[in-house]
Amino acid sequence: MSISIKSRAIGRTLLGAAMALMIGGSAAQAAEGIVPPSQDWSFNGVFGKFDKASAQRGLQIYTEICASCHSLNLMYYRNITELGYTEDQAKSFAAQFEVTDGPNDDGDYFTRPGLPSDRFVSPFENEKAAAASNGGKAPPDLSLMVKARMNGADYLYALLTGYKDVPPAGVEISDGAYYNEYFPGHQIAMAPPLSDGMVEYSDGTSASLEQAAKDITMFLAWTAEPEMEDRKAMGVKVFLFLLVFLGLAIANKKRLWAKLH
Ligand code: HEC
Repeated sequence: MSISIKSRAIGRTLLGAAMALMIGGSAAQAAEGIVPPSQDWSFNGVFGKFDKASAQRGLQIYTEICASCHSLNLMYYRNITELGYTEDQAKSFAAQFEVTDGPNDDGDYFTRPGLPSDRFVSPFENEKAAAASNGGKAPPDLSLMVKARMNGADYLYALLTGYKDVPPAGVEISDGAYYNEYFPGHQIAMAPPLSDGMVEYSDGTSASLEQAAKDITMFLAWTAEPEMEDRKAMGVKVFLFLLVFLGLAIANKKRLWAKLH
């Protein structure tokens, strides 16, 4: 008895603490940055899927723009076949990049064209070099960025389209920083990476800032969870199975009780 009262009291304290954390967390987020507006992503919802054409354009944006500063360490060149590219296309995509390999029999490192089995090459040797080239702030790896931020896809889109040339009155921007409406604290060390017409899409889509931000977000949502579609398909199967099982259980119950009434 006393144990159950005690455990109930502990339960209540834990619940209170959890609620305080949740409220505290959202207040902190609200204080730091504006909540990004939600966008209509094709991958939202139970039947959501990645828009592969958009993700392919996002790969182009990553390669032509973001890759000069950001690594994508969890990706291998062969992974792009999952976006609808053929094995040959993945091979020639990989071959554009210079990969450091070795040591060879003489103990030396050497460079060679990339292979599908290589990871995406990183723009910098290490984090110190990355920070040194970017005013002291290392550009983070983007592989899991969409998962690492709250409302990751909406946040990324808002961040990329949320720069303001002129900060609001009274806001001082320090050297090497840019005003961004959605970055926590509003001062980001990344210059606006996207603008209208910055790339020429190989599929002919016109590359407005918003289009480019959508496409790179689609691509990075995929790198953060390439198996999302399988997971959702499994969820639907499990749900259908449970539904059929429930139907059988009800039918069985009716049959059993019919005899007893
Ligand atoms: C010239 C270098 C450079 C380029 C190009 C660049 N970035 Fe960045 N990026 C940075 C730096 C530096 C930071 C760290 C900013 C900070 O912490 O203030 C950063 C931070 C970020 C962040 C993290 C924001 C956060 O919430 O912490 C994201 C996301 C991001 N970049 C996405 C991109 C995307 C997508 C592209 C390509 C469209 C891109 N960046 C191109 C330098 C770059």
